[in-house]
Amino acid sequence: MQNINNTNVRTVALEAICSVVLNKRSLSAFNYPDDLNDLSLIKSFVFGTIRFYHQLNDIVSGLLKHPIEKENLDIHCLMLLGAYQILHSNVAPHAIIFETVNVVNDLNKPWAKGLVNAILREVDRQKHLLQKQPHYSHPSWLVKKIKNNHPDHFEQIFANNNLQAPMGIRVHPTYQLDDYQASLSAIGIESHQVDIAPQALVLEKAVSVFKLPDFEQGACYVQDCSAQLAAYLLNPKEGELILDACSAPGGKTTHLSELAPKSNIVALDNDGERLKRVQQNIDRFSIKNITILQGNAQTQDWWDGKLFDKILLDAPCSATGVIRRHPDIKLLRKPKDITALVALQKDILANLWPMLKPGGILLYATCSILKSENEEQMSCFLESYENAQELKIDLDWGINTKVGKQQLPSHNFDGFYYAKLQRRV
Ligand SMILES: C[S@@+](CC[C@H](N)C(=O)[O-])C[C@H]1O[C@@H](n2cnc3c(N)ncnc32)[C@H](O)[C@@H]1O
Repeated sequence: MQNINNTNVRTVALEAICSVVLNKRSLSAFNYPDDLNDLSLIKSFVFGTIRFYHQLNDIVSGLLKHPIEKENLDIHCLMLLGAYQILHSNVAPHAIIFETVNVVNDLNKPWAKGLVNAILREVDRQKHLLQKQPHYSHPSWLVKKIKNNHPDHFEQIFANNNLQAPMGIRVHPTYQLDDYQASLSAIGIESHQVDIAPQALVLEKAVSVFKLPDFEQGACYVQDCSAQLAAYLLNPKEGELILDACSAPGGKTTHLSELAPKSNIVALDNDGERLKRVQQNIDRFSIKNITILQGNAQTQDWWDGKLFDKILLDAPCSATGVIRRHPDIKLLRKPKDITALVALQKDILANLWPMLKPGGILLYATCSILKSENEEQMSCFLESYENAQELKIDLDWGINTKVGKQQLPSHNFDGFYYAKLQRRV
C-alpha cells in the first residue's frame, strides 16, 4: 500500500472538490484511487469543503484583489480547501497552511505559493470574526425558496443541512433488534433505537458496512429512519401484487419483501445500472418475491395489464431533504431542475394511477422539502382525479401539511415527505 503523506491527501481531496465545483460532476461519481490509506480523512476534507462551499467562496473571493483566471480555478478551490480546514477543523493553522500551500507543487503551479499562503494567513488572522458571521452556506435561490416554504423552520433546516448525517441501518426482522444492537456494541459500535421505526438503529458513528455483523448474509440494510417508514405506511400483505415504481437501489423494495415475503413485488426503474444494485440486494437477502423490470414509469409498455393492489412511488426529486448526505446538491441543482422534476412527478403519477385496483393504495414519497414537489403536487393531483382520496397518515412523525406529512431534516430523520392516496371503489 502506498504511504500517503499529508500533501497527497490534500491533492486527492482537491481533485474531488474540483470535479464538483469546476466540472459539475456529482460527488458519488468521483473515483478515489484504490491505494489510499487515509480515505476517511480525504472524504472529510471533500465533504466539508463542499458542504461549506458558499461560505468559503464568499470569504476567499472577498479577500482576493482580482478574481482568479479561468485556467487557475483549481488554485481557487485549493484556497477553499485550506479555508475549510482553518475555520472548521481543530488542526493547527500553521500545519494546515504549510500542507495546503505545498499542493501547488503537485499542480505544477509553484507561482501560486505566495497567493495561497497570503490568503490562508488572512483567513487565519480573521478566523474568530469569520466564525461568528452567520452564513447558511446554500445558494441564494435555495435560501429564498426554503425561507419561503418554511418560514418557521428555515434556521433548523439550514443548520441540519450543514451537519454530517448519521448512519442509520434497518435490521432484518429475523434478528431481534436488541440482540443485534448488543452484537454491535460488543464490537464497539454504539447505536440507539428510534420509536416509530421498529427495525431501525442509528449508529453513533458511521462505520464500513463490512464491520456490521452478518452484513453479507443480509442482517441489515443501510437506510435512514425516514425512508424506513415507507414500507409500514404501504403495509404490504401476503398475496398482494405491489409495484415499486422507482425502486433502485432497492431499499424500500427489500423492506416491502421483508414485511410480506409472500406478496408479489414488481421492482421497476428506468436505470439499468441502478437496477443491478437492486439485484445485488435481492441476492444478499436471498429474496424470492421480487421481479425486476427495467422500464419507464411514464409509459405502460412494460406493464402486463394486471392491476396492482398497492403502488409505491418513491419519486425522482430534488433531494433537498438529504443535502446533509449529498452536499454537492447545493452546487449542482438549479431552479429549472425543480420545474422539470415537478413535471416528471406529475407525469408519472398520471401514468401509474390507472394501474391501481379500485380500493388500492398509492404511497407517494419524496426526499424533498419543497412544497411544489410534495403537498402542492398532491393537492393538484387530488383536484384533477375525482376517483382519488387522501388517507390521513396517523404517525407521530413530521408535520401535517395540506395533504400528507412532511419531515424536516433532524438528527434521527432525513427530510422526507409521504402522502397516501386511495383509489375510490
Ligand atoms: C429516490 S430514487 C429511488 C430510491 C429507492 N426507492 C430506494 O428506496 O432505494 C428514484 C429512482 O427513480 C428512478 N427514475 C427516475 N425517473 C424514472 C422513470 N421515468 N421511470 C422509472 N424510474 C425512474 C431513478 O433511476 C431512481 O432510481
